[in-house]
Parts: sequence; C-alpha cells; structure tokens
Amino acid sequence: NNMFAATIGEEHGYTKKDIDAMQERVTNGHQAIKEAKAAGNLDWMDLPYNHKEIAKEIKEFAEENREKYDNFVVFGIGGSALGNIAVQTALNDPYYNLKKEARNGCPRLFIPDNVDPTRLKSLLDMLDLEKTMFNIISKSGGTAEPMSQFLTARAAVIKELGEDAVADHFIATTSKDSGDLIKIAKEEGIKTFYIPKTVGGRFSVLSPVGLVSAAFTGVDIEELLAGAEYMDQICDTDDVWKNPAYLNAVLQYLADQDGKPMSVMMPYSHVLKDVADWYRQMWAESLGKKFNRQGEVVNVGPTPIKALGATDQHSQAQLYMEGPYDKVVTFLEVEKFRETLEIARGYEDIDGVSYLGGHTFNELITTEKKATELALIDNNRLNCTVTFPEVNAFTLGQFFYMYEMTTALIGELYNINAFDQPGVELGKQYAYGVLGREGYDHMKEQFDARPKK
Ligand code: PA5
Repeated sequence: NNMFAATIGEEHGYTKKDIDAMQERVTNGHQAIKEAKAAGNLDWMDLPYNHKEIAKEIKEFAEENREKYDNFVVFGIGGSALGNIAVQTALNDPYYNLKKEARNGCPRLFIPDNVDPTRLKSLLDMLDLEKTMFNIISKSGGTAEPMSQFLTARAAVIKELGEDAVADHFIATTSKDSGDLIKIAKEEGIKTFYIPKTVGGRFSVLSPVGLVSAAFTGVDIEELLAGAEYMDQICDTDDVWKNPAYLNAVLQYLADQDGKPMSVMMPYSHVLKDVADWYRQMWAESLGKKFNRQGEVVNVGPTPIKALGATDQHSQAQLYMEGPYDKVVTFLEVEKFRETLEIARGYEDIDGVSYLGGHTFNELITTEKKATELALIDNNRLNCTVTFPEVNAFTLGQFFYMYEMTTALIGELYNINAFDQPGVELGKQYAYGVLGREGYDHMKEQFDARPKK
C-alpha cells in the first residue's frame, strides 16, 4: 500500500488542505462507485473474485495446449490488445520471442493490433500455420480490425490445412450473448472465452481478454488476480489519505483543473513501457468526454502522454522541465530489477568515462530517475511516483486495479461516464459506410459529400 507517493511542489502544487477539501467529493464518488457496482454496472471490480475459477480453467487449457503451438497470435485492438501487450512486456523476458530458453516450451506471442497491410502480411507469411493458434478478441464481436484479420487468417488456414482445421487454430474471446463473433465461433466449433457484460474493453485486462494470452506465455495469471484483489481491499475506503487510487485521482484532477491537463506517465524500466500505453488508452477513452452526466456539454479530459525513462530524458525532459506549466509527471519506479548488471570497468585514465565502471545499470537508471525527479521539483513541476517493489504478476495486478479505481473516481469528480466511448464511434461509422457495411449507406453519403481539399 505504499506504491504511491506524491511530491507537492510549492508554487504549482497542492497542500494537505487542498486535498482535505476534496474529501466530501471523494466520499460521494466512493458511494456512487459502490452503488454502480451493486447495480451490476462495474463487473470489472468483481474480476479478482469471480474469475478465480475461470483463471484456473484458462491455466489448465493453456497448459494442455501451449506446447502444441509455436506461435500464439492475438487479433484485437484497443482494450482487446493493450493489456495483453503490457502484461507480456512487463512479465516475460524482453527477448521472449527470440529466445527459446526464455519460453520454457510456450509459444511465441504476436499481437499485431493494427491493420497495416505490410506488417500483417509479413506476419502471416512468416507463421507456420500448422503450429499457430489465433485468439480473436472482440467484446462487440464485430470490430473491423480484428474481424478482417480473422477473415484473412482463417482463409489462410483453410487453404493450407483444410476446413476441419479451423477449430484447432482459433479461439474466440467475446461476449456470451451478443455480436457476430460468438455466432461464428459456435457454428465453427471454436473454443470460446467470455467477457462479462459490464467489463469494458479497457477494463478487461484481468478478464479472459488479458488472461488467455498471458497463460499461454507462462504468466502466473492467478497472481495477477491476487494482486488486484489485494489492491481492491486497500481501495475499499473513502479516506483519501488511505486510498492510493483516490489520492492519485484527486491530485490528477486538481492538476487538470489548475491548468495542467498534460498527464505524463514515465516508467524508469523498459519492461513497464507498455503499461504506460495501457494507461494512455485508459485515461483518454475514459475521461475525454463531451457531455457530463446531466447531458451538458463540458468537453473535459486530461491528455495522457507516455514517456520512457531514461530514453526520453534525451527527448522529452527538456520540455517537461522548462516548457509550459501544463504537466504532471507520474514516474514508475522499480526498487528491485529482475537482474543486476554491473557496468564494466575501463579507461581508468579518462575521468569522464571511468567513473561509470563498478556501478550497476540498476544504480544508473534509478539515479537518473531520482535526478530527473529532483530537477522537476527544482523547477516547481508537479510529479509523483508509483513504486513497484519488483515487477511481478502480483504487483502488476495491483497496478492495473489501482489505475482502474483511479479512473472510476476521477470520472466521478468530472461528473462524466468514464465507461463509454461515444466519440470513437463516428469515425468507425464513416469507415463502415465507405466499406459497404449494411445499414451505413447514409454515412457513405455524408463521407462522399465531405469538403474537397
Ligand atoms: O476500451 C474500449 O472499449 C475499446 O478500446 C475497445 O476495446 C476497442 O474498440 C475494441 O472493441 P471490441 O473489443 O468490441 O472489438
């Protein structure tokens, strides 16, 4: 429960009094979250509890099947991909796909969460289809990106291995009672995993969406859920000083209200870089909203930005230090890395180089984080740090859940629905119209009538 620590600067920061003044709104928000949960609208809060058995089944299924395949491919996008990528980068070897010994008999993992023809063709050309399992993840069961990938991979499997091979090479992770994917899966005898009704895409990493690929690559998915459960218990209080998710929400909210809408997440650990990407979607889709709950136009939402320490010290840090006072930086820090690596000694007669020898890379990256943090404080720049004692399935589960709770509360503070994404729809509908999907002719007409360049 000491994952979160905030640094309060003087001119641009907040005092204990500012935070105490938010307590009543936090209490009301906490109450609203509890009521929404009781009404069955926040199923993601139940996952650490009601998915224990499902996690066992997924684990067994993965253990029985993973050695049959060299490759496991996830076709999904947004919330149906970013959690999977974050888990893989955080918990498996950085060169997992390239190092057989790092995989312990598990398949390589590919998550081409885009429809770029060059990338997809290259992947499909490379895969030995006989040794490949595809997991199509789509809660709606109809998103153009994963469905087009599915159509193409399925055709390739049929061409090479025959119609009967489809059920052995595809899994569908989707809604139980709605969408086209479930109908197709049933018709073709494809193994299915279900996404509970009120678990939105970006809140689904701890559901089968994130758990299946994690289990296939050997991640301890029960520990992921245990970490989330642990954090849920910590967060079961409305006291802003005891609830790290709520304190985070309050600080981020105050910063945005105070003219600092840029919210940077900057892990000082390469394995957490895709966690920052997961956060970016979570924050953007949940909090960027036109209407408040009363239907009034508010156009709110901080802008989430991902950066990576130490890499982006040489790219972004100058702006963060001296640019506009419009940012809050959240560092992710790791106390104990999985490896300790010493910097080799050399050039003892060249002071500018020799001082490095004998230190460790662990010291170097940690010192760089602390130095950047202090430089931000010297410049009166808002920042806070989430500390991972180490990066493992348990702490990652805690982190995901803490940020989900932060998002839920900050949605309450903005008085918006953090769980829908109406703004994403318009672009999709134009694309459906242009590509000839039934019922979208009017969108094609509007598209064709667009102003010419
Ligand atoms: O968070 C969300 O709801 C979205 O990012 C979705 O995950 C994304 O649009 C994919 O949707 P679906 O899983 O229905 O294919």
